[in-house]
Amino acid sequence: MRAIVQERYGPPREVLRLKEIDRPTPGPGEVLVRVRASSVNTPDWIAVTGIPYVLRLQSGRLSANVVRGSDVAGIVEALGAGVTDIGVGDAVFGSLWTSRLVTAGAFAEFAAVPAAQLAPVPSGVGFGEAAASVMSGVTALCAMRDTVSVRKGMKVLVNGASGGVGTFAVQLAANFGAEVTGVCGPSNVEIVRELGASHVIDYTETDFTQGNEQYDVILDNVLNHPPRRTARALAPGGVLVPNSVGNSGGLLAGLGRMARAKLLGLTGRADVRFSPSEATRENLTAIGELLGSGEIRAVIDRSYPLEETPEAVAHMFGHHARGNVVITVAD
Ligand SMILES: NC(=O)c1ccc[n+]([C@@H]2O[C@H](COP(=O)([O-])OP(=O)(O)OC[C@H]3O[C@@H](n4cnc5c(N)ncnc54)[C@H](OP(=O)(O)O)[C@@H]3O)[C@@H](O)[C@H]2O)c1
Repeated sequence: MRAIVQERYGPPREVLRLKEIDRPTPGPGEVLVRVRASSVNTPDWIAVTGIPYVLRLQSGRLSANVVRGSDVAGIVEALGAGVTDIGVGDAVFGSLWTSRLVTAGAFAEFAAVPAAQLAPVPSGVGFGEAAASVMSGVTALCAMRDTVSVRKGMKVLVNGASGGVGTFAVQLAANFGAEVTGVCGPSNVEIVRELGASHVIDYTETDFTQGNEQYDVILDNVLNHPPRRTARALAPGGVLVPNSVGNSGGLLAGLGRMARAKLLGLTGRADVRFSPSEATRENLTAIGELLGSGEIRAVIDRSYPLEETPEAVAHMFGHHARGNVVITVAD
């Protein structure tokens, strides 16, 4: 099959290349998916660039034919042992993400995916939109629905409202009845408003941490301000959800700021909650239902054919993608 393999850590255009490799074989509990679309997320550029460098130590040397890409949408080609609730020919979307960086991923024509991390693609939803909704959509869902239980009347601020996670978070919070404030750059003010934000702050003009407004929830997808300062914009009883490894390079990149946010919580100076991204069938089905009913949509910046995956990852690494970046795999 054709796949995008990573030969070493470094800039995406230099270290990724198209190669013919063997198809994966689905293990017990896995499904072989003929990939129709994938999408690019933060863990993909982290895995490709090896930034923050500390992750290279954790992951060790690259083996042969490493393929990245955790989001997938496609057609079931074959079933591994023990899979009984999915059939060959089904249209599915889901995730290859486990707690480790993906090494046999979906930037390829076929991927072996845990069946428990797949759900049916809802009718009327395209493979590109489905793939774009996996990590971004599920991360936003887990944060808004589970970590902070957003409800009617709450004031929610989403920093980085125009990115993959942010565009879903704005829509979900508005859908749950919150009054949403989105923070983004000047070229994305209009789209963030369209997605359901009642207020939009252009970060080039206004620093939300310096204003008088206070929020019940701040989902921080950027961590461009010291967490202590961000927490000053919380209303009494408000919750800060730090959700970014940042976009600076170096040994730790934004992990230092995540650590400072954790400390802020541990010392009791703010309610700080970290949110997981759990691509369970239940969460994928919930996202699928919202997509299928038209209550939310995936914002897709650009779709790239498989062979242009290096460009797609480089675009994500620029931190100004509008919504999600999709990879499409032709029939
Ligand atoms: N919890 C989890 O398991 C999980 C899973 C996936 C991702 N994440 C985290 O989620 C974060 C967001 O990821 P993403 O895919 O949505 O996209 P991203 O590429 O990290 O962020 C892009 C967005 O950030 C905005 N941005 C850039 N600089 C900014 C600034 N100075 N102030 C405010 N906004 C700024 C951009 O806005 P403009 O383009 O409008 O300038 C763009 O919309 C990542 O840092 C990642 O680590 C967490």
